[in-house]
Amino acid sequence: MSTNKIAVSTAEIGSFTTVSNGPFPVYNDDQILIKGIAYAANPTDWKHIANKWGAPGSIAGSDASGIVYEVGKDVKGFEVGDFVSTTLHGNYRKDRGGFAEYVIADPATTVKYDKSKFLTEPLPVGKTPSSLINTFEGAAAITLSLATVGLSYSHSLKITPDLKGNSEKYILIWGGATATAILGIQVAKLIYGLKVITTASKKHHEFLKSLGADITLDYRDSDVLEQIKKAAGGKIYYAFDTVSSKTTYQQVYDATEGSPVKSFDNLLFLGKDDLKLRYDDSANARFGATLVYLANGESQRLETVIEATPELLADYNKFWFELLPPHVGQLKNPELIVLKPGFESANEALALLKEDKVSGGKVVFRG
Ligand SMILES: NC(=O)c1ccc[n+]([C@@H]2O[C@H](COP(=O)([O-])OP(=O)(O)OC[C@H]3O[C@@H](n4cnc5c(N)ncnc54)[C@H](OP(=O)(O)O)[C@@H]3O)[C@@H](O)[C@H]2O)c1
Repeated sequence: MSTNKIAVSTAEIGSFTTVSNGPFPVYNDDQILIKGIAYAANPTDWKHIANKWGAPGSIAGSDASGIVYEVGKDVKGFEVGDFVSTTLHGNYRKDRGGFAEYVIADPATTVKYDKSKFLTEPLPVGKTPSSLINTFEGAAAITLSLATVGLSYSHSLKITPDLKGNSEKYILIWGGATATAILGIQVAKLIYGLKVITTASKKHHEFLKSLGADITLDYRDSDVLEQIKKAAGGKIYYAFDTVSSKTTYQQVYDATEGSPVKSFDNLLFLGKDDLKLRYDDSANARFGATLVYLANGESQRLETVIEATPELLADYNKFWFELLPPHVGQLKNPELIVLKPGFESANEALALLKEDKVSGGKVVFRG
């Protein structure tokens, strides 16, 4: 039986991952095995390793794309040879991670593409502009973000996919140039029919408008909150903080004054208690936090146990299996920052993110 080349989490000073050989992965009947081709780095990868959240020696990486190699006997909708991308809780376990030659994938966090549209040659090292997803690098770059957005919109924000009813409603997406928001803007427009108001550095505004953002504002402007209130005209119904610092969460909340916001969401476990509230208009709002790892049905043990409840899975699965598939061909990947091929590049990719050297793009590499 063949082995599985992997990037392993290390906790050595100055290094996040090293390359190694692990055993061939064992997957369940309801899972898929992918022969990995391209990989993308996420902030969670270096955070898991630096903070020692995962098991020592676990397989790094949370985003991969490739070709379906084997299909569990209980899986429907995937065949050997399909072009796919997947996201999973990497940097956490020794038997499963994204930066691997063979990747175990759950259907609920795996996207299938039209392979007739794909260019299979490797992209050159360096930058490739955003495009419709038609490369393995582009596919690897979107999946964790897409599952995060799907869970946020379907379950935490509870947005109804009512294209007509939503056409005059705004979603405020703070941090438009984050990898999450680049998918969040597209999904808000294509699947939910919302108007999008977003904050990002000026250099990203044209790009974010090309993804469908209606209003783009610079978060560095001292009066950005007033600009948001004026532009949205009291019509913000949903608010998603993709940066999720205490400051940005409060900014998001303050910018919605005068709007009938139904729900707020963030990605780093901020809650109502982290806000200075206007009690008069917040009484009926929902304050949620999204954790993408719940999407494949596994409850998570962090400071407390966070449960993948039946309601959460019903909301999310409706998004992933019903609402999303007709729109996969319309989604664009972020600008790609392509590193040298080889799992050795995983270390460089994580260091770039840790050092905050990436703005509006996604770091990818081939195995
Ligand atoms: N809970 C979950 O399930 C989950 C899922 C995904 C991500 N996350 C977390 O969410 C955060 C975002 O992750 P990501 O991968 O989407 O981000 P990312 O792509 O790494 O975000 C980088 C972007 O953040 C923007 N930014 C930084 N500070 C900002 C501010 N004050 N206001 C507006 N934009 C700002 C920058 O935009 P400019 O270039 O415009 O300056 C930069 O381009 C990370 O902390 C990540 O760990 C959590």
